Amino acid sequence: MAPGVTEIDPPAPLRSAVYGAPPSELAEAPADAVQVSPLRPGGEALETQADAALDAILIAAPPGSIERRFVLAHALRALKPGGALTALAANDKGGQRLRAELEGFGCEVAERSKARQRICTVERPAALQGIEDSIAEGAPQLVAETGFMSQPGVFSWNRVDPGSALLLTHLPKLSGRGADLGAGLGVLSRAVLALPDVSELNLVELDRRAVDAARRNVDDPRARFLWSDAREAALADLDFVVTNPPFHSEGIEDRGLGQSFIGAAARMLRRSGTLLLVANRHMPYEAVLRAAFRSVDVRAEEAGYKIFEARK
Ligand SMILES: C[S@@+](CC[C@H](N)C(=O)[O-])C[C@H]1O[C@@H](n2cnc3c(N)ncnc32)[C@H](O)[C@@H]1O
Repeated sequence: MAPGVTEIDPPAPLRSAVYGAPPSELAEAPADAVQVSPLRPGGEALETQADAALDAILIAAPPGSIERRFVLAHALRALKPGGALTALAANDKGGQRLRAELEGFGCEVAERSKARQRICTVERPAALQGIEDSIAEGAPQLVAETGFMSQPGVFSWNRVDPGSALLLTHLPKLSGRGADLGAGLGVLSRAVLALPDVSELNLVELDRRAVDAARRNVDDPRARFLWSDAREAALADLDFVVTNPPFHSEGIEDRGLGQSFIGAAARMLRRSGTLLLVANRHMPYEAVLRAAFRSVDVRAEEAGYKIFEARK
């Protein structure tokens, strides 16, 4: 270095994060923001961001209140003092509570309303209040009633879904390699793996929290855990697929999702492979099943649910 020249460290790059998909017309995430939603396979985890590491975070706040407070508390923990948090949610999906929740953590909140959403902005204060309680309440936990490891925010996190309960009582003999599409906490997978002729089961699930819980709930060397969108999972030549397909995408009803699960299952199965699908009997799946499979039978119909058995 030339005499008299002092080297100055370049400023550390700003680090920002985005949780989910906030509508860009309401709030824009920086292009380099890292995705920290558990519903984005390959993203980072908000929970494992270091304390006071982020300059800014934009959050599409989830609808469940325990889950939402957990996310807001972790976001504030991970922000540097003075860092910017923007959180938004539809009025009827927790938006009306955002302001009070953030104030409860010791923040001064600027709130605006647009397109039936509340948008709250805060500067992270030096001292936060009560985030530990919200983090503990929303953390992974063993649910005594079900005996499953779970986490608030995961589908049917503290009770066994009645559709899955019905499929559990109507499982045929399955054998060979299979997949559980939208495996959740592993409720169906555990029962499938109790069948001795099953050689491999791929648990495909979009929600990282559910995948982490399923790893604890399904302790079996034949299980493979895929944090992935089932519509994109690269599985082929399977002997069977079981599924209780989702009908919501990030809180919004989406009947097409289950229909694309049927298409994905048909692609993954070998000829004569079997799909077992349980769904609320009002869901529009039967025509899609008949178009994609050689034969379709209703194996059971009870308590508002139908179990379809389809052969490719
Ligand atoms: C109706 S739940 C069934 C969960 C579990 N099999 C059970 O019986 O409790 C549907 C599951 O699909 C997951 N899911 C939603 N969209 C998905 C997608 N595109 N790919 C994979 N899993 C998805 C949800 O997170 C949820 O765990």
